[in-house]
Amino acid sequence: MKPTVLAPRSGLLLATAMLLAGCDGPQSALAPAGDGAERIANLFWWMLGGSAVIWTLVLGLAAYVTRFSRGKHSLVASRWLIIGGGVVFPTVVLSALLIYGLMLIPALRTPEDVGMRVEVSGEQWWWRVHYPSPDGGDPIELANEVRLPLGERVAFDLLSPDVIHSFWVPSLAGKVDMIPGRTTELIVQPTQLGTFRGACAEYCGTAHALMNFQVVVMEPAAFDRWLAHQAEPAQPPRSEIAQRGLESFLANGCGACHAIRGTEADGRLGPDLTHVGSRLGLGADVLPNTTEAFVRWIGHTDRVKPDVRMPAYGMLPDDELAALATYLSELE
Ligand code: CUA
Repeated sequence: MKPTVLAPRSGLLLATAMLLAGCDGPQSALAPAGDGAERIANLFWWMLGGSAVIWTLVLGLAAYVTRFSRGKHSLVASRWLIIGGGVVFPTVVLSALLIYGLMLIPALRTPEDVGMRVEVSGEQWWWRVHYPSPDGGDPIELANEVRLPLGERVAFDLLSPDVIHSFWVPSLAGKVDMIPGRTTELIVQPTQLGTFRGACAEYCGTAHALMNFQVVVMEPAAFDRWLAHQAEPAQPPRSEIAQRGLESFLANGCGACHAIRGTEADGRLGPDLTHVGSRLGLGADVLPNTTEAFVRWIGHTDRVKPDVRMPAYGMLPDDELAALATYLSELE
């Protein structure tokens, strides 16, 4: 998008260009990749254009009276200026923008043509995700990552067990609060393939800023394969060190909070780890998904994410931490 040139000074032009260059990327409402985000971005550009016109008119008028027409002005003319420019003009422009903004709401809210419904619960400080099972069984529990088929309208049912969070993927749609005791809804229709970043947009405690997730928009066939894979139980350990990792996981009581489908671990308090190795990030997207990052996370959860509910297991010997990390990162 080309910046609107409002001032003749090249410094201002440069600053504007740099500012607008920062509006690109995987987490920008101004680089829309979804139906809702496109409508909201359009509204933003209309409002920006409207305010640019008014700003130009007001400054033009100020320049006119101070530079070019310094004499006395008639009382009648100034009265008409106040009525016309101060009452009628803003009422018309603001009403038009309000009507345009309100007209967007039905299209953003319509639950018709919704294909899949995905439930996301905001936790402190991560995201619990439930997808409908491909074979019609119990929903599949995942965490901290959402994948969507390109072009399909998907409804998110948004929940929270304790405090208010806000579910926001700026590239795809507007933001909707997750309120304890209620289910709110957000409809998303991705229009571009890619990986986008979501964040919690409502202060929810110490680690609010460390509560992120990735949204991957895939071709529908690839999405179906991904969901079918996520529905499967975890693969058994592939190496001796991974086997030791699984034993350590069970012996240290990790299964009291985490589930790994296909093993004895069936805890529900923390994120499901059945396919944790396939995710793009760790700890609600605060670390990359690597074996080293698993070691850092398990050993120092409190340093990576202050006040996190998961205790740090830094007292485990290094080789045991490495085995745990190997096992978990192989859970693809
Ligand atoms: Cu969850 Cu802020």
